[in-house]
Amino acid sequence: MARERIVEAAQQGRDREPEAPAGPALRPQHLAEYIGQPDLKERLSIAIDAARSRSSPMEHVLLHGPPGLGKTTLAHVIANEMGSRAYVTSGPALTKAADLIGTLTKMEERDVLFIDEIHRLPAAVEEYIYPAMEDFRIDFTVDSGMHARVVTVALKPFTLIGATTRPGLLTQALRNRFGIAHHLGFYGTAELIEILRRAAGLQGMRGIPDGALDRLAGRSRGTPRIALRLLRRVRDFAQVRRGGTLDLAAVDEALELEGIDALGLDALDRAYVQALAGVYGCGPAGVEAIAASMGEDAGTLEDVVEPYLLQLGFVARTRQGRRLTKAACDHVGAAWKGPADGGLFEA
Ligand code: ADE
Repeated sequence: MARERIVEAAQQGRDREPEAPAGPALRPQHLAEYIGQPDLKERLSIAIDAARSRSSPMEHVLLHGPPGLGKTTLAHVIANEMGSRAYVTSGPALTKAADLIGTLTKMEERDVLFIDEIHRLPAAVEEYIYPAMEDFRIDFTVDSGMHARVVTVALKPFTLIGATTRPGLLTQALRNRFGIAHHLGFYGTAELIEILRRAAGLQGMRGIPDGALDRLAGRSRGTPRIALRLLRRVRDFAQVRRGGTLDLAAVDEALELEGIDALGLDALDRAYVQALAGVYGCGPAGVEAIAASMGEDAGTLEDVVEPYLLQLGFVARTRQGRRLTKAACDHVGAAWKGPADGGLFEA
């Protein structure tokens, strides 16, 4: 079931065709402008400097972590730092080998191919990726039967950047072909405030009280894409209902209108907690069972609902299934059915 969520970090229209670089002006162009993920930035800056000084392409990079944390942005930053272009596509958009071959043969030396949701790459396409990544060539068979022959096409050395919310679903063979693999974690409040301040400045939004950015950051689930979307909603609200005054009261009212609570949970998150509390007595329950009770897709819950609830300490993954904590029950006003100290049941 597709519900529209303002706190949905996944991008809309993901099954997109390979596209030439564009991207909003707000996006950082250089690593130095990129806020957060300090360890990853350092690893990338070393790899970029090394590649530049050897005039070779940057190593293939695998970025994994929840949606909305800047994987696509980083691909653009890397391409820009390498003085090249980024071609953006996604696993589900590459339905047949020809889709991939078209893009690969178009790319110039040191260009970046960004494949989002790389775990959804069809197996038949993945086969072509191996020699492309390792030896910068693709082999394909023309004709069939007696006349079948393999044609090899040489590619210009390029960098593949793969992004996934589910690294566990990648084949070992594919994972091994990335020189750098890095997990992107949720952003801290101070980093989100910095990202919001930068974006507000670039959009000409002046005089926003610090407290307002703080409140937005606190409700953004550690995710820049959500923080920036909430900023746009609040800006619209202030413009239309408050004659342009963006103060704390405007932030609160705008977010309430969007159904976002003080911790940044929306209706879908609360429905998850309520299903686990009400239907399964706080757990344990498998994610498939919870999804079935909610009429949702289990993958969606795993990708976009659970990571933040786990981070908040609202849900624990145990061998028997998902369990709710007392803090989660208190937050949604559900009855706590576990030990009096609020801890978890025996895991
Ligand atoms: N916009 C979105 N994410 C960002 C980040 N990490 N740094 C700077 N600007 C951003």
